[in-house]
Amino acid sequence: MSGRHLWRSPVSTETDPAPRAGAFRTKTVEQSIRDTEEPEHALRKSLSALDLTVFGVGVIIGTGIFVLTGAVAKENAGPATSLAFVVAGVVCALAALCYAEFASTVPVAGSAYTFAYASLGELPAWIIGWDLVLEFALGTAVVAVGWSGYLRSLMENIGWQLPDALSGTNDITGFGFDLLAFLLVLALTAVLVAGMKLSARVTSLIVAIKVVVVLIVIVAGSFFIKVSNWDPFIPPAQPQTGESGLQEPLVQLLFGYAPTNFGVLGIFTAASVVFFAFIGFDVVATAAEETRLPQRDMPRGIIGSLFICTVLYVAVSIVVTGMQHYTDLSIDAPLADAFKSTGHPWYAGVISFGAVIGLMSVCLILLLGQTRVFFAMSRDGLLPRFFSVTHPTFRTPYRATILLGVVIAIVAGFTNIQELAVLVNIGTLFAFVVVALGVLILRRTRPDLPRAFRTPLVPWLPIASVAASVWLMLNLPAETWLRFGLWMALGVIVYYVYGRRHSRLGKRAEDERTPA
Ligand code: ALA
Repeated sequence: MSGRHLWRSPVSTETDPAPRAGAFRTKTVEQSIRDTEEPEHALRKSLSALDLTVFGVGVIIGTGIFVLTGAVAKENAGPATSLAFVVAGVVCALAALCYAEFASTVPVAGSAYTFAYASLGELPAWIIGWDLVLEFALGTAVVAVGWSGYLRSLMENIGWQLPDALSGTNDITGFGFDLLAFLLVLALTAVLVAGMKLSARVTSLIVAIKVVVVLIVIVAGSFFIKVSNWDPFIPPAQPQTGESGLQEPLVQLLFGYAPTNFGVLGIFTAASVVFFAFIGFDVVATAAEETRLPQRDMPRGIIGSLFICTVLYVAVSIVVTGMQHYTDLSIDAPLADAFKSTGHPWYAGVISFGAVIGLMSVCLILLLGQTRVFFAMSRDGLLPRFFSVTHPTFRTPYRATILLGVVIAIVAGFTNIQELAVLVNIGTLFAFVVVALGVLILRRTRPDLPRAFRTPLVPWLPIASVAASVWLMLNLPAETWLRFGLWMALGVIVYYVYGRRHSRLGKRAEDERTPA
C-alpha cells in the first residue's frame, strides 16, 4: 500500500461539510487533500522522517548562531545569551507542538497557510500566507547576505577581494550591490527547479558539514574557556543610549519604562532577536505533501530538528562567551573570531568554511518553503493559477520557483541584514499565534478528524504558545511593528482586489448555490 493511501484512509469524504460563505469560508481538510490529487498540481511524495529532520537542521542552524550571537551577547545579554536561546527555544517548542498536530492532520503543502484555511477561514489563511511570503522571502535574502559576508572573508584569506560596490550595502553611502548573495539565490533557484530529491541529497551533505563545524566550536572551544568571562553571567541592566521612539521595543513604549540593555529584561530582548536562529522548523511542515507518511514522520521531523538545534545553540553560546569576554566579541563572525582571539586562526578558517557551506543550505530550504506556500495559494486560486502548474518532468512548481527566486535574488542584492531579520521574526511569531489558535479552533469545529499527533495539554499549551509568541513580538522595535503592519495591510488589499474573486473555494460555493 502506498504512503498516500495509508494516510488518506481515515478521512471520510462523506462528512465533508459544505463551505461557509465569504471571507471566513473554510476549505475542508478533505478538500485540501483532494486538491493535491489533481495530476497537473500533484507533488511527488518521497520524503521520510530522517529527510525532514535533516531538512529542519539544515535550515535552522544558520545566520542566527553564526552571526547574530555576537551582536546580541555584546549589546543585550552578555553570557546570558545562552538563556535567551533557551527562552526562544521554549517559545518555538510550544509552537512546534501545535504545528505538529496541524501538519499531521492536514498533510498538504503550504504550512500554516493550509492549516489556517482548514480552521480559521479564507481571509485569515490569506493573511498567514501573505505573512509567510514575508518570512521566507526576506529570510532567504537575509541569510544570502550573511553567506556572502563569510565567503568574502574566506576569499580575503587567499588574497581575493571584490570591489566595494559589489560587496553589499555600504554603511556610509547606504548603497552597493551584493553580487555574491544575488548569484547564490539564482543558483539555488535552479537546484529547486530540478527537483526535491536533488535538493534533499545536496542538503544532507551540507548539513553534515555544518553540524560538524558547530561541534568543533563546542568541543575545541571548551578547552579555551576562561571562567572569569562568565562573571557576571547576567550583566546588570544599563540605560540604553542613542535609541529613541520607534527603535525601542514596543513593550517599553507601551508601558513607558526606561529602556535598558542587559539585566533580566535584556534576556528577553535578546531572545526576540536570536529567535531568528530557530526559524525553519516550521518549513518542515511545508513539505507535508511531499512526505511519505506525514502523520508519523512530520511530528518526528519537526520536534527532532528543533531539539537538536536548541541543545547545540545553548552549548555554542556558553562556550563562545566563555572563550572571549562578551564586550570583545565580534559582530560579523563571532564564532571564528573567538578562536582568533585565543590564538587559533586555523580553527577560525575551518569555522568560516563551515559557515559558508551551512548558510547555503539555510537559503535553499527557506527558498523551498517560500515557493511551496506560494504554490498552495496559487492552487487555491488566491494567486494566479498559472503559478501552480507543476513541471511535466521534475514535478516541481517551477513557475513560482523561478519568479520568486529572481525577486528574492534582487532583494538579497540590496538587503540591509539586521532590520530585515527582525521583520522576519515578527512575521514568524505572528504565524505561530495563528497556528496555536488554529489548533484550538479545529479541535472544536472538527473533533472527528483523525490526528496522528495530538498537541498535549489542550487548551493550555496552545494558549501558552500564543502568550509566549506575543511576548517576544512585544520585545521587538516599534518600527518593526509598523513595517509589518504596512505589509499586512497591503496583503488585505490584494486579497479583496484579487484573491477573494478568484478563489476556487468561493467558485465552488457559488456553483453549489446556483441551481443546475
Ligand atoms: N534559522 C535560520 C538562521 O539562522 C533562518 O539562520
